This record gives sequence, C-alpha cells and structure tokens, in this order.
Amino acid sequence: MAKILVTGGAGFIGSHTVDRLIEEGNEVVVIDNLSTGFLKNLNEKSIFFNVDIRDRKRLKEIFEKYKFDFVFHFAAQINVRKGEEDPFFDVDVNVFGLLNLLEELKKNPPKKIIFSSTGGVMYGMPDIYPTPESVEPFPTCIYAISKLTCEKLLYAYWKNYDINFVALRYGNVYGPRQNYLSEAGVIAIFISRIIESKECVIFGDGEQTRDFIYVDDVVDVNMLFMKNELNGIFNIGTGVETTVNRIFDIIKENIKMDCKKVYGPPKKGEPRRSCLSIEKVKNLTGWFPKYSIEEGIKKTIEWFLSQNQ
Ligand SMILES: NC(=O)c1ccc[n+]([C@@H]2O[C@H](COP(=O)([O-])OP(=O)(O)OC[C@H]3O[C@@H](n4cnc5c(N)ncnc54)[C@H](O)[C@@H]3O)[C@@H](O)[C@H]2O)c1
Repeated sequence: MAKILVTGGAGFIGSHTVDRLIEEGNEVVVIDNLSTGFLKNLNEKSIFFNVDIRDRKRLKEIFEKYKFDFVFHFAAQINVRKGEEDPFFDVDVNVFGLLNLLEELKKNPPKKIIFSSTGGVMYGMPDIYPTPESVEPFPTCIYAISKLTCEKLLYAYWKNYDINFVALRYGNVYGPRQNYLSEAGVIAIFISRIIESKECVIFGDGEQTRDFIYVDDVVDVNMLFMKNELNGIFNIGTGVETTVNRIFDIIKENIKMDCKKVYGPPKKGEPRRSCLSIEKVKNLTGWFPKYSIEEGIKKTIEWFLSQNQ
C-alpha cells in the first residue's frame, strides 16, 4: 500500500483518480479548497484537507505529518478564459501553487509526481496535426504559459533534487462529474443545458476541432505512469479531431431530448484546431484510449441524467 497525495482530489479528473487509487488499496490524502470541486465527489475513504495550495503554512503542517510515495497534482485554475481575465490569479494558483508543493517535497522526495498539464492549448497554433511533443510549445494563453512554466519547474526539481516527474498533456477530458459551471468542458455544458431545456451556444462556426478523451482512459494512463519508470512529457489524447458541431450532433442523437443550438461570436485567442499525437505514449507504454467519442458521450449522458432523477 502506497501513501499518495492527490491535490484537486475533489474535482473531476482528481476524484476519479482517487477512486481508482483507493480501489487498488492505497492510502490517499486529498488537498482541495473546493473552489471548483465538490465534497460529493470525494471518496469517503480518503483523508481530506480543505486547504488552498497557496497556503504555505497549512501545506507545511500536512507535509510534516505525512511522507508521500507519490503525488498527483490536479489542483489548478483550469479556465482558459479566466486566465486571460485575471492572469495574476492564474499564475498564483498554477505556478506558485506547484512551487509551494515542490519546496515541501524536496525535503522528502516522493517516488514520482504526476502532473496534469494541457495538450489542448500548449502548442498554440502549430503547423502539425496531430501534434507531437517534439513541436516546441508557443502557447498564447496565460493558462498554458503557467502550465509550461510548471513543466519547467518540474524538470528543474527532477534534475536538482531527484524528484521524478511526468507532465501529462491532456487533450479535452470529459465524462461524469465534470463541472459544467466552470465554462470548461463543452460536452458537460451542452448536456447540462439540454437537460435544463436551454439552448447550447456554439462560439464561432462550430468547425473548430478538439481532441476529446474520456476520463476513464485518463485514469488508466495516470495509474500507468505512477507504476512505470518513465519521466518527462507525454501527450494524452486520442489523435482524433472532432468538431464542436459533431459533438452537438452526437449528444443530440443519444440524449433523446429537445436540443437547440445557437451560434455566438468566436472566442478570441482560442485555437481553431487541436489534436495530439499519442505515438510517444503508445510506443513507450502500450497504452491507447479505449473509448470512442460516441461511447464516451453516451456514458456521460447517462451519468448527467442519473443526477437529475
Ligand atoms: N478537464 C480537462 O479537459 C483538462 C485538460 C487538460 C488539463 N487539465 C488539468 O487537469 C487538472 C484537473 O482538472 P479538472 O478538469 O478535473 O478540473 P476541476 O476544476 O474539476 O478540478 C480542479 C480541482 O482543484 C481544486 N482547486 C482549485 N484551486 C485550488 C487551490 N488553490 N487549492 C486547492 N485546490 C484547488 C478545485 O476545487 C477542484 O477540485 C487541472 O490541473 C487541469 O488544468 C484538465
């Protein structure tokens, strides 16, 4: 049994990862300030601290009490648009939050940190699709610049203090428990709006593409990277591009409710295309995503409907 810290463990991806870690017999400590996460997501077998990762004093107390074998770092300001509105807040949570953890962890290095980075906006507007990790990132939004800075910090602490790490550059993750109020996650937003008999707003012409990956596939790969010896940066997606219009249509085909859409002005600065090459992770680990977008959306709809009964 390993002792594992999960920051952001009351959030969407974090809570699914906590469930799997506990299922596999590990002891899990969660740090989360519940800003976008929920107590109802929290596994009752986890040890929970309602703490902000910017609170160095409280972090120090936790790290004095526990020595961790592994750390999953999910806690973050995750909203790209909010990052533009308040860049100081984004950098404060995303960059200084990680630095606070690293400064504690270097006293007692864990076997590995598994960091959730972004693939969706990391590369800016690259020339190559699906985009491999070898393309140099030139992000144009604060959120991705923070995540890139985090990757550099992790690299330096690996080299200087032997803290192994992986930065997993996720595509657009979707599935049960995604917070549809946070303005991130078009699938959760569309489904919840349809259930509330509201229209879905598509920004721009809807032909922008994203690489959508189902949360169970992400949890599988998170577990794999905890157990293997690999360090460094990996894209985690499907290698498949799906348009927002297609997402709306798949939901419409499966939800069997009245679905209305309207088109709004495009959001400035958002990439037209996003699709990740997953050759590196496939070749080095054998992992590949199991869920098609249709299967994943069906499961997500089922969950959202079950919450409204
Ligand atoms: N969902 C995606 O498509 C996606 C894509 C790429 C990367 N990521 C990354 O994955 C991670 C998890 O994202 P998610 O989609 O599960 O989002 P989420 O909002 O559901 O989870 C984030 C969690 O962190 C907590 N948190 C936020 N600020 C905190 C702070 N200052 N101190 C302590 N806790 C704090 C929130 O309460 C929440 O529970 C994030 O780092 C995000 O940047 C997500």
